[in-house]
Amino acid sequence: MSPTPTSSHPLQDENSTKMPLGTNTEVMVEQLSILDRTSPSSTKRQSFSHHRRKSSASSTHHAMLQSRPTTQETPFYVSPNGIKSSTGEIDLAPHLAVPMRHRRHTSVDHASHIKSLPNSNTKSYSNYYDVNRNKYVLVTGGAGYIGSHTVLELLSRNYEIVVLDNLCNSNLEALKRVEKLAGRSITFHRADITVEEQLVQVFSMYKFWAVIHFASLKAVGESMKIPLDYYHNNLTGSINLMRVMQKFNVKNMVFSSSATVYGDPEYTPVGESARLGPVTNPYGKTKLFLEEMLRDQCTADPEWNVCLLRYFNPVGAHPSGLIGEHPQGIPNNLLPYVNKVIQGHLPHVQVFGEDYDTIDGTGVRDYIHVCDLASGHVAALKKLEKKPRCVAYNLGTGVGCSVLQIIKSMERVTGVHIPYKVVDRRPGDIATCTADATLANRELEWFPSRTLDEMCEDMWRWTRRNPNGYDSPMLESDEDSDEAQK
Ligand SMILES: NC(=O)c1ccc[n+]([C@@H]2O[C@H](COP(=O)([O-])OP(=O)(O)OC[C@H]3O[C@@H](n4cnc5c(N)ncnc54)[C@H](O)[C@@H]3O)[C@@H](O)[C@H]2O)c1
Repeated sequence: MSPTPTSSHPLQDENSTKMPLGTNTEVMVEQLSILDRTSPSSTKRQSFSHHRRKSSASSTHHAMLQSRPTTQETPFYVSPNGIKSSTGEIDLAPHLAVPMRHRRHTSVDHASHIKSLPNSNTKSYSNYYDVNRNKYVLVTGGAGYIGSHTVLELLSRNYEIVVLDNLCNSNLEALKRVEKLAGRSITFHRADITVEEQLVQVFSMYKFWAVIHFASLKAVGESMKIPLDYYHNNLTGSINLMRVMQKFNVKNMVFSSSATVYGDPEYTPVGESARLGPVTNPYGKTKLFLEEMLRDQCTADPEWNVCLLRYFNPVGAHPSGLIGEHPQGIPNNLLPYVNKVIQGHLPHVQVFGEDYDTIDGTGVRDYIHVCDLASGHVAALKKLEKKPRCVAYNLGTGVGCSVLQIIKSMERVTGVHIPYKVVDRRPGDIATCTADATLANRELEWFPSRTLDEMCEDMWRWTRRNPNGYDSPMLESDEDSDEAQK
């Protein structure tokens, strides 16, 4: 059997995923204000009653949204002349609407934010708006783990962005916290890439120049149980996205690919020109197929430019401890699993094999801090401006760490003994998979800088402050965290 590098880490998938498919009662595109929580008014919602899907995750979130008091809902767009739509909601006609985040405010303090709102549709305002309309970057899957860190990086570098996510494996709280960190509000649409009409609606509202495409289901194990759902979500969704991009003449994309496309790498550190595949799981195949599709599209239409970013093993969290990875259920990735053991939720770490030809006999992988990964996306966006056509880049450190080294590093950082048990190798696992990232170093001028200990420290800070991820309020201090650990 051919191994799959990103899944082949002992314990490793690209995470467990809350299933989005199958139980949705209504599909909606929603514009949500995340930053401004108290201004009265509405959230723009548009139903596509002709296109109904079912999702327990979506309907749960939907119920959450419905139950929020209206005073906590705010439109992203406020029509400066106060024109309302026939539904009583604020008119979203682009020529009338002014994105709230274009109103100059630097803090998340609501009172000062409200004061800065204009009460008339001044000419200068609409000029400002028109100029900036051309600069939007659409971030699909931007509420997720890597997406939220990248959104923060984009905001801090003054990119104008719009986030689209169906929240099937993420929580809006992540974006609220990104707003706090960035001091800027985020334009968010709850929408599903598998529903082309929803994409058309979002693309009709902005002039995007590029798309960063994270939206995907990503659990290797799950993809083997429900392959059609994976093909539908990842392939149909991405084809929809590419078709709508083509229609709206948006021809620049940064695509979230994975080291899994290398299958069992023919050499390591693996370079971008290494043989691709064979890949044995449906998730990995969707990445490989999409790379091929994007390559074909770039060949067919020379105006298309795509950076295929092949991530190695993203770990860590923002150093603030405000945002991080929130896997659902039992984590498949090593570090979140180790975290659960430290928290006492799981008894020990399972180490799959200790007789590999590596430094200590356990599997070696290339771990990369999620903030380094985020900056790689900004570097890729800059590359797109130079019209590179279709080009693949490995995003990894080039440095391998074994499972035991990870466990030791987490013990150092937390001061907690981490029990582990060695069990048999898993079929398909390989000894070592690390990245040759020299192409990204050279062409993107991108250099990851965080060490393994920093990855572990940041991950632990996030876990301490958010023992339940985004599901309960963040603990404010280390003392609170210590209490929570007891
Ligand atoms: N985390 C990893 O180890 C890893 C490694 C290699 C590649 N990747 C890829 O990177 C990307 C981001 O990964 P992540 O770890 O942040 O995952 P994540 O699950 O945290 O984020 C993915 C986001 O996409 C959204 N999404 C999924 N299907 C959607 C749909 N049909 N419409 C709209 N939104 C949808 C989810 O709600 C989620 O917010 C994915 O494409 C993943 O395959 C991840």
